[in-house]
Amino acid sequence: MNYIGSKYSLLDFLQDTIAEVTGYKDGDSYVFADLFAGTGIVGQTYKAKGCTVIANDIQYFSYVLNKHLIENIPELLFTSDQYAASGEQSAEVTLQQRTVKANTELLTRLNDLPLAEGFIYQNYCDGSGSGRNYFTDDNGKRCDAIRMELERLYRSGEISENIYYFYLASLINSIDKYANTASVYGAFLKHVKKSAQKQFTLELFPVIPGKIGKVFNEDINMLVRHIHGDVLYLDPPYNARQYSSNYHVLETIARYDDPELTGVTGLRKEDDQKSRFCSKRTVAEVFEDLIKNADFKYIFLSYNNEGLMSLDTIAEIMSKYGEYKYFTREYKRFKADKDTNRKIAGDSTTEYLHCLIR
Ligand SMILES: C[S@@+](CC[C@H](N)C(=O)[O-])C[C@H]1O[C@@H](n2cnc3c(N)ncnc32)[C@H](O)[C@@H]1O
Repeated sequence: MNYIGSKYSLLDFLQDTIAEVTGYKDGDSYVFADLFAGTGIVGQTYKAKGCTVIANDIQYFSYVLNKHLIENIPELLFTSDQYAASGEQSAEVTLQQRTVKANTELLTRLNDLPLAEGFIYQNYCDGSGSGRNYFTDDNGKRCDAIRMELERLYRSGEISENIYYFYLASLINSIDKYANTASVYGAFLKHVKKSAQKQFTLELFPVIPGKIGKVFNEDINMLVRHIHGDVLYLDPPYNARQYSSNYHVLETIARYDDPELTGVTGLRKEDDQKSRFCSKRTVAEVFEDLIKNADFKYIFLSYNNEGLMSLDTIAEIMSKYGEYKYFTREYKRFKADKDTNRKIAGDSTTEYLHCLIR
């Protein structure tokens, strides 16, 4: 997923630095917490290395993605027959192929459902008269049909909680590729772009083998008081752009809670997920509270040189609680809109990984 602040392209930098500071090697058994988890890419990387991962995000759709990536393992999703038949022994078959093979029946059924005029079609497609153009009419109806059927299957006990999150995470990840936006859901495009015109097909998310972790959907400052572990990775928002406004459509697909909408873009009227890390007024205070209450031996913070907190503020806060240092890497800027709309020039920023050893 093309997510603001995704660490996908910085994974090598993160892994190399964390290994250098902690001395942990792949296969070592330790608790790794990814508490601003977003797409879950960092947590899933550490799960695959052998860690027990704790993940968290304030957005429900991110919780769903992580519920699957961190708490599901192949053995929980397939019957032993399916698992054996899925070619687990064969190195030539990728995990994704095995997953698809083992779940073909339900996947085919969901992709073949008759179209349904549910909340997404009614509110985010042009044909319903909503005035919004986030998905083509057919793709909106297809998304509704799958979302409603998944809920029915889960509530009637026909699918387990593990399968429910597997398919819901897959729905969120798949539908995002058909959104008629420049990249985030802060606005939709007037004309339907090429990738959004294609017929939406549900594809299954990979299943990450490893230890079964634990996922939360809480404000980090509340959660941090109740957990502990070895490595805490922090990747807060860097600027004032709230994730809840930029990903509200995915949030509604995940929750499917018939929210009251507002404005041209159909934002959720009740937004209880505004982050205090997105405000210059509150960020230093919540950041210090977080560091102070974090019961972890190693803490790593990703931030860049254009964030709301200055390098000096971060250094000052982190140094109070142990041995502090930082590492840097040049990074290609996330582009959600055209350069001409931007106040900041240049294609790259400097990414910092701040480290604290208690
Ligand atoms: C920079 S993104 C994380 C990206 C993630 N590391 C990835 O690679 O996909 C920041 C995340 O923090 C979450 N967030 C913001 N404020 C939060 C809070 N107070 N508690 C928990 N999560 C929060 C946002 O919803 C967003 O997903």
